[in-house]
Formats: sequence, C-alpha cells, structure tokens
Amino acid sequence: MRFMFGMVVAMGLLGCGGADTDDVSGLEGVGSVGGEIVGGYASPAGEAPWQVSLRNTSHFCGGVIYNSKTVITAAHCVAGRQPSEISVRYNSLYHGSGGALVSVSSIVVHPSYNFSTIDNDIALIKLSSAMTLGSTQAKAVKLPAPGSDPAVKATALASGWGVISYGSSALPAALRSVSLPIVSRATAQAGYGSMVITKNMIAAGPTEGGKDTCQGDSGGPLVINGELVGITSWGWDCAASNRPGIYTRVGKYVDWIKNNAG
Ligand code: ARG
Repeated sequence: MRFMFGMVVAMGLLGCGGADTDDVSGLEGVGSVGGEIVGGYASPAGEAPWQVSLRNTSHFCGGVIYNSKTVITAAHCVAGRQPSEISVRYNSLYHGSGGALVSVSSIVVHPSYNFSTIDNDIALIKLSSAMTLGSTQAKAVKLPAPGSDPAVKATALASGWGVISYGSSALPAALRSVSLPIVSRATAQAGYGSMVITKNMIAAGPTEGGKDTCQGDSGGPLVINGELVGITSWGWDCAASNRPGIYTRVGKYVDWIKNNAG
C-alpha cells in the first residue's frame, strides 16, 4: 500500500516548479521524488565542472552548463517560474558561496513536457550575461550523439547539492558525486509498477540501492565520459533497492537543445 500511495504522491507532487523549493522545507514538498546525492562523496574540483546551482533565495535545483549563455535543467525545476525569480551560481563547489551569480533572461520548457507523467523533463535557461568558462570548475558539458541511449551497465556520474539521505532536512554545502550503473528500462519498469518509464527516460542505480540522487539534485547532470546522458528527474524515495533514479534521456533532445540554445 505504501508503494502505491507513494506512486500517487510522486506523480502528484513531482513538479519542483510547483513546489517552492528554495529551502529544505520546499524540497520536502517534492515528497517521494527526493533530491540529494545518497551514498556519494565530496566532488573534487574539476570532476563535474558543468554543474551549476539554480537559486531563488537559496538552492532549489541543479543545472548543467551547455554554453556560456545556456544552462540545461529539468522542466519540473523551472516550469511556472519567472526568469526574474532565478539566478544561477557557477564555478563553485558550494551552492551558497563562491563562483559567480548570473541572472536569467528566459526559460524554455520543452513543449512536450508532461507534469503528470514527467515525460520530456528538460528545459533550457538562457542567461542575461555570458558565464566565463574554462576554469577548473566552469566548463561546458558535451552532448551525446543524437538519439543515443547509454549502454546498460555503463558507469555514469551524477552530482549535486541534494540531500544525502531521503527525508533529510539539510542540503550539503559542498557538491557531491556518485557513480551509478545504467539500468535497462525494462528492469526499472519492473521495480516501478504503474509509473511508466518512457523511452525518453533512462534509469541508473545499483539493484541493491544505497546510491542515488535525491531531493535537490534534480536538473543536475548524469554524465558518461564527459557527455551528458541524463538529467536528474525523479525516483521512488532515494537509494531504495530495485528503484533506480530516473533521468531524462538527453540523447532524445540533442537537436532540440541545439535549436533552442542561446
Ligand atoms: N525530483 C527530485 C528533485 O527535485 C529528484 C529526484 C531524484 N530521486 C531519486 N530517487 N533519484 O530534486
């Protein structure tokens, strides 16, 4: 019963754009879809230099540097928000300090994003001024081949400032990373029951659980060999066995990103 109830809660509350996630109580509003890295480690400088923090009064989601004027994130992080509400911190391992803050000029949510099914969970954030890229912790990510789908069992790296255990009330100050194996959609679907894993999603996480993204990590990167294969999107609880984290399949959106980026 908890499983089914949780599914309904996750479906109903997934939209981080609806919940005000500028603080931990806001993140808790995301319920079962959680947001911090679980089972990870402090990200060393330069390991995830494409990671940024999306902020209103404080961190609410991750994002990924595509080019000096464009950040990729999850649609559920920004749908319904105004550009003026958001700033982006880049070039820092800390969501609350360092690097530089830039303001947002426009938000492009994928036209097929579906709040109920969380399908097509991708958006672009265009910046009012260009970021200065090239330093250790500030670099653009590469996109995968158009249409590509990461190989099952490949090792991917997720990063973020999300909570370190499900239900935790505090975000870590410093960026964290975790290595996760890609899981087939069929295997993930078997664990998720009625929540549909579409072909626009990929799954990653060990069968036994213990490692995952969590509340506050949404919108952040899942990378293989410097290529952005996924964007943190949703999941049941965090780090639960047989319920890998679900990520937007970036290979499906390469043309859309290129055509809509600033
Ligand atoms: N939607 C969540 C967020 O806004 C991320 C959920 C990831 N959950 C998981 N179990 N991998 O931060």
